[in-house]
Order: sequence, then structure tokens, then C-alpha cells
Amino acid sequence: MTERKLVQVVDALETSDGAGVKLRRSLGGRPGLRLDPFLMLDEFGTENPDDYIAGFPPHPHRGFTTVTYMLDGHMQHRDHLGNVGDLGPGGVQWMDAAHGVIHSEMPQQDHGRMRGMQLWLNLPAVEKMKPAFYRDLAPQQIPVVALEGGGEVKVIAGTAMVDEKSVTGPINTADRPVATDPLYLDIALPGGGVFTHPITAGHNAFIYVLEGGVRIGPDHQRLGLHGAGILGREGERATIAAEGGAARFLLLAARPLGEPVVQYGPFVMNTRDEVEQAMRDYQAGTLTAEPAPQS
Ligand code: FE2
Repeated sequence: MTERKLVQVVDALETSDGAGVKLRRSLGGRPGLRLDPFLMLDEFGTENPDDYIAGFPPHPHRGFTTVTYMLDGHMQHRDHLGNVGDLGPGGVQWMDAAHGVIHSEMPQQDHGRMRGMQLWLNLPAVEKMKPAFYRDLAPQQIPVVALEGGGEVKVIAGTAMVDEKSVTGPINTADRPVATDPLYLDIALPGGGVFTHPITAGHNAFIYVLEGGVRIGPDHQRLGLHGAGILGREGERATIAAEGGAARFLLLAARPLGEPVVQYGPFVMNTRDEVEQAMRDYQAGTLTAEPAPQS
């Protein structure tokens, strides 16, 4: 079996979004720095309430999926349908904005640490105008697999193969497959730990370091904290070793769509006309209107 190699490191840029929430944006931080079907990856993490307290007041999305993974702290989601969801440490919200969502994401704390990740995962053209869908997952719904050599793997989406055991997470299951067949794992390794995982042929994959640092593949290429490391398309598996002390990182992989991407802020469609339509729909108040049934 050949190993995937690290081919590009996308360092996170410090930026802010919403009403001034400070965050680190790696994928999507600069034009063209996407990895089909992954559009954007943000890490928000701070002890300073001034950096998060204003949250993300009501804003729209169309054409893709947002995946929010809370690591520390507490946020509340409210949307135009009246859904209210609480996200606490270890919880995940998987939201297909699809045809349209208007929601807010607001901190439910005024002190202490707030940390989490938000991923934007593209939808295929045929699903961009479907009705919106979302799921809140409590931490206990996310399988945790202990590694024989120490450490653990949380399986958020897809099926992990860990020490010859197969474990499927709550998202992208046989009953409800996701079009891009995503794998989303959160891996913690002790110092000296090594993790190997198969990567489906043709899928794009990357690693994001949350704590510590790692070495990737047979050449022991280094990937440091807050960096998104894009793996090459060649090879059937990825091997990641903790460098120095303990390390924690995300491993994501998915099938590329190979479709044109036209983005304007929170609208991600295939053509400029479709993006302009999204802006008109938002202004007219019909962004979230239930789409007409397709014959
Ligand atoms: Fe949002």
C-alpha cells in the first residue's frame, strides 16, 4: 500500500467574521485555496470574551453544508424555521443550507474559553436547491474508539477503520449517504503515537492540527499547529505521527465534485447567475422559501 504525501500546507490567516469573532481561516482564506469539495475551514479559539461575545447574528447561506464542531464552550443556533440548537463541548451541527437558511450562531457564555471548527462542504449542483436540513449531534452520539497504541479517534462522519475495526459515525451512513461521501475524524495521539488510515481512491484529503504538531507519510513531512495539510491524490492510506509530545488533529477526506464554484460570501453556487439569484432571493425574503416540488 502506498502512502499519501503532504503536497501543500495552507497556513491559517487570522481574520474575523460575524460581528467580530476572531478566527483562523485556512482553506478558503485566499481565493482558490479550496480543496474540492471542501470550501472553507475556520478555527475559532480564544479565552478572551471580547473576541467572541458578539457572535454571528442572523445571516444567510445557500448552496452548501456547514459543519460546526465545538471543542470548548457553548453556542446556540437559531434559524428561520424556529429551530433552536445548543452546541456544547464535543457537539456537532451538520446543516445542509441547500436552498437557503437564515440563522444566528451566538455564544451562550460571557467568560472562559470558546473553541471550535466550522467547515464548509460543497453540495453537488443537483442538491444546491433542495430544502434545508440540519442535525444537532450530542457528544455521546459520536463514537470514540480507543487506539491500541494509546490515544483515541472520534468518528464524526463516514466509516473509520481503526486497528482492523470498522466504526461508522452518525453522518454519512448507509441509510443517509452524503453525496461527497465525507470522512471526518478527530484523532488524539500520545507522544510517539502513530495513526494510519485508508483514504478512498480519488478522494481529496487533508489534515488540520489542533494541538501539537505531526509528521506525515514516509518522508515525515512536518505539519504544525493551525495548518491545513493537503495530501496528494496518489496513495491508498495516510500515516500521521505525533511529533514531540501529544498531538490532536482532524483527518478529512471526500469525493471531489469537479463542478464550477462561484462564491459570493455565504452563497456558493455553480454560475454567476445563480449567485445573483441568491442575492435577489435574499433581498426579496424568498431565500428560505420552500422550493417547488421537482417533477
Ligand atoms: Fe452560519
